[in-house]
Amino acid sequence: MKTTTNLQRRKLLKYAAMGIAGAATYPAWAQTAGFTRVNTPSADFLPDVEIELTMNTADVAILNGEKTHVWKVTGKVITGPSGVLDNNEGTYLAPTLRFKKGQRVRLILNNNLPAQSILHWHGLHVPANMDGNPMYAINRGETYIYEFEILNRAGTYFYHSHAHGVTARQVYSGLAGLLIVSDDQEQALNLPSGNLDVPLVIQDRSFDGQNQLVYSGHMMQRMQGFLGDQILVNGRPDFVLPVATRAYRLRLVNGSNSRIYKLAWNDGTPITVIGVDGGLLAAPEQHPYVMLAPGERVDAWMDFSGRALGTELTLRSIPFDAATHGGMGMMGGGMMGGRGGMMGHGMGGMMRGGMMGGGMMSVSTLPSGSDYPILKIRVTKKEQGDNTLPKTLTPITTFQVKNAANASNPRTIALSMEHMSALLNGRSYKMDDVQPDEIIPVNSLQLIEFDNGFDGGMHGMMNMPHPMHLHGEQFQIVKREVSPRSQDSYTTVASGFINGGWKDTVLVMPGEKVTILKPFNDFKGLFMYHCHNLEHEDLGMMRDFLIK
Ligand code: C2O
Ligand code: CU
Ligand code: CU
Repeated sequence: MKTTTNLQRRKLLKYAAMGIAGAATYPAWAQTAGFTRVNTPSADFLPDVEIELTMNTADVAILNGEKTHVWKVTGKVITGPSGVLDNNEGTYLAPTLRFKKGQRVRLILNNNLPAQSILHWHGLHVPANMDGNPMYAINRGETYIYEFEILNRAGTYFYHSHAHGVTARQVYSGLAGLLIVSDDQEQALNLPSGNLDVPLVIQDRSFDGQNQLVYSGHMMQRMQGFLGDQILVNGRPDFVLPVATRAYRLRLVNGSNSRIYKLAWNDGTPITVIGVDGGLLAAPEQHPYVMLAPGERVDAWMDFSGRALGTELTLRSIPFDAATHGGMGMMGGGMMGGRGGMMGHGMGGMMRGGMMGGGMMSVSTLPSGSDYPILKIRVTKKEQGDNTLPKTLTPITTFQVKNAANASNPRTIALSMEHMSALLNGRSYKMDDVQPDEIIPVNSLQLIEFDNGFDGGMHGMMNMPHPMHLHGEQFQIVKREVSPRSQDSYTTVASGFINGGWKDTVLVMPGEKVTILKPFNDFKGLFMYHCHNLEHEDLGMMRDFLIK
């Protein structure tokens, strides 16, 4: 680990000193196409895996009839084991990348889009200039070369656009994919693998009459977050997963811009959770339902061995209360008069009622917290096999608050929304704008609390749930505290939180304060923290920590 770190540091320095190109491994087609090089492969980095990823426009068949115009990442393996890349052909999903812990990976990213963009490896512990910070965005025709070692433990990670101010739009258009890491420890557990290990990316979209994606970007939509009226799984509507009478590992990923799911099996079977954002839990946990906010992942284990052929089971999102408390009931110049509770069920109704005027906004007919199906499972095949779930999974060392560098002085991050903005400690995102309280010493453990109106003060005009995400290493949840005035709505979600294991995104409900312990090891530089409601992120609910 130490050698790696040193090597990575040397490389960082090297990148800083290099501005010019000329390496022989640069793809020939890119040179002839007149691409400008903004990065070059480093000569002393010997990749186990080298993949070229190209972002382009494409037309894919999602609904019946006309194809849908999307932004698609397509990959090409230059070096690497078989199975390292699946292009998810015919969908807008970016390629699924399968890496092993310890592999050295070079990813050559070409931008062939009519816009600036950059990809970020969500949940991975990589050097700052390999992390896809918006300041590294590349123009059409440019290339960014990522080189890093997979330091993370086995888990379901993902990657997506992180372009400044347009992340929501770009992810919505298709710039997101899965990055699955395995390691020896996980493989030794003999969990369901191969066909029995199924990634399920859940997203919502809206289509117009010509099957084209609708994204208005209207201020109301940005404040609330985009809510589509059609659920897609792995880029497909009405998703059906045929299964055999075996145990499966279902990797549930919320790749939606802002929609929060409360996932449950329709027949009341509890959800057996074996992993979260940063990989396997110490032991399986059963939950009546699971909350999955944008950016979060949950690995569920489900045994279909007792089920008859032809059995159908539906994974649903079931009702919960994400309503706000307090609030002036006014937004966008007072067009929406009324009580508090703007962001709950009430709002969808009001908006559908046309109070925003002119029908100019795309408003979801599928409000947040309503009841709707996500996907269907159909038992189609009898199959014998070992379906036992290990009682323990992977050992997890629990951080102690007393070991935090700031144990008695937590860093509080107040979450708030104002007219036309979403803020962290009252600040909006600005590139490379680090304030003194955002500087963190490298190799320290930090106690951080996200306060979403817990202290009783009104944080702006409204309280919304905010899935808070931090770049860099995975963290642990220490505690959740809820203000008494939010207790009632909180009970509709409380049993769905998995607080153990390694996390990189945590949902902070209205009236809630969530305390975490996060290590900032190995890498110096800028690492972001932000709301993973992508509309909120683009509205400014994002900042950088400077690790130094
Ligand atoms: Cu998944 Cu900074 O984002
Ligand atoms: Cu991230
Ligand atoms: Cu938010």
